[in-house]
Amino acid sequence: MKISKTSSTRIHTTDFTNLKFGTVFSDHMLICKYKDGEWGEAEIRPYGPIDMTPGSQVLHYGQSVFEGMKAFKNSDDEVLIFRKEENFKRINKSAERLYIPKITENIFMDGLDKLISLDSDWCKNEDGYSLYIRPFIFASGECIKASASEEYTFIIITSPTTRYYAGDLNVVVEQHYSRAAKGGVGFAKAAGNYAASFYPTKMANARGFTQVVWTDSIEHKYIEEAGTMNVWVRIDDTLITPELSDSILGGITRDSIVTLAKDKGIIVQERKLSIDDVVEAHRNGRLIEAFGTGTAVTVSPIDSITVGEEKIELNHKSDSFASLLKKSLQGIQNGTLEDKFGWTSKVNEVVNI
Ligand SMILES: Cc1ncc(COP(=O)(O)O)c(C=O)c1O
Repeated sequence: MKISKTSSTRIHTTDFTNLKFGTVFSDHMLICKYKDGEWGEAEIRPYGPIDMTPGSQVLHYGQSVFEGMKAFKNSDDEVLIFRKEENFKRINKSAERLYIPKITENIFMDGLDKLISLDSDWCKNEDGYSLYIRPFIFASGECIKASASEEYTFIIITSPTTRYYAGDLNVVVEQHYSRAAKGGVGFAKAAGNYAASFYPTKMANARGFTQVVWTDSIEHKYIEEAGTMNVWVRIDDTLITPELSDSILGGITRDSIVTLAKDKGIIVQERKLSIDDVVEAHRNGRLIEAFGTGTAVTVSPIDSITVGEEKIELNHKSDSFASLLKKSLQGIQNGTLEDKFGWTSKVNEVVNI
C-alpha cells in the first residue's frame, strides 16, 4: 500500500471542544479504484479533493453505498474499533444489491488499520469522544447511460466526534411517505435511501419534530425505523424492536442491544410492531419507554411519539432499559467494561509509516 503522509497536520488548529457532527475530517484518507474487473492497489494520502468528471455515473444514478462505524480510545491510549467485521459484511451486502463489486477483506481491514493508526491522535482519549469512520464505494465510471458502472472508487474518511447532543427527540409517525419498499433497497446502506428521506424529514422538522418514524410502505401500519436509528419500545418489561426485513437497515447497534439485553435477562422480541400496539400500550399505561439505536446516537431515549393528532409523551427514568443498555454498550466500546462478546479490535500501531 502506498502511504503519503501530510506535511501539515490540521490537528492543532482543530477545535475539539466544538465539533459539529460530520464536518471535521482527520488528516488522511484511503482510496482504492476498481477498473477492468478488479480492485487496484489502495493508497493512503492526505484528506482532500478527489478527481471526478461531470460524467461520473454516481452523480446521475446514485450508484453508491456507505458505512458508518466508530473507533474509541481506551485508558491505555489504544484505539478500539467496534465490530468492524459487521460493517465489512454490511457494506458488501449493500454493494451486491446495488450491483457494485464487493470490496476485498484485505483492502477494507488492512486499510482501516493503517489509516486509523496514522490518524490515531484524532481519536481523543476523553469521555464522549470517538472517531467516526465512513467507508464508501461509488460508481466512478464516466458514462451517462443509465447502467451500472464499470469503474468504482472505494474511500475511507474519518471524522472526530463527540457525544451527539441532539436535544429532545420528538418523533412523528409517517403515514404518507415511505423510506423503503418491499423488494427495494431499504436493507442496504444505499445513498439514495437517504436522499429520498430528506424531504419528508424536513417537512416533519418544520412541524417541530426531530425525526420521522417510517412505517411499512403498503399499509403504513407497522413501525420500521427512524432517521438513522432502529426503534425500540418497552411495553411492561418486554423490549420490542421491529423484526428485520428488506425495508429495514439491520443496525449493528441494534444487534448489539439485542445481545446485551438478553444477556441481562431482559425479554426481547423482534417482531412486527404496529402503531396500534404502541398507542394501545400507552393508553393502558403499559408503554414504559422508547428509544432509538445507531452508531451516531448510540442509545437515544425518545421524548414523544406523535401519531396523527395524538402525542404520546414519555418520561426518562434513571433506571430505564435505555440508560442501562447505553452504559453497557459504551463501556464495551471504550474498554472500561469487559468485552465478553469480542466486539472490539485493537488497531495495531503501524511503525515506520
Ligand atoms: C437507516 C438506518 N437505520 C438504522 C441505522 C443504525 O445502524 P447502526 O447501528 O449500524 O449504525 C442507521 C445508521 O447506520 C441507518 O442509517
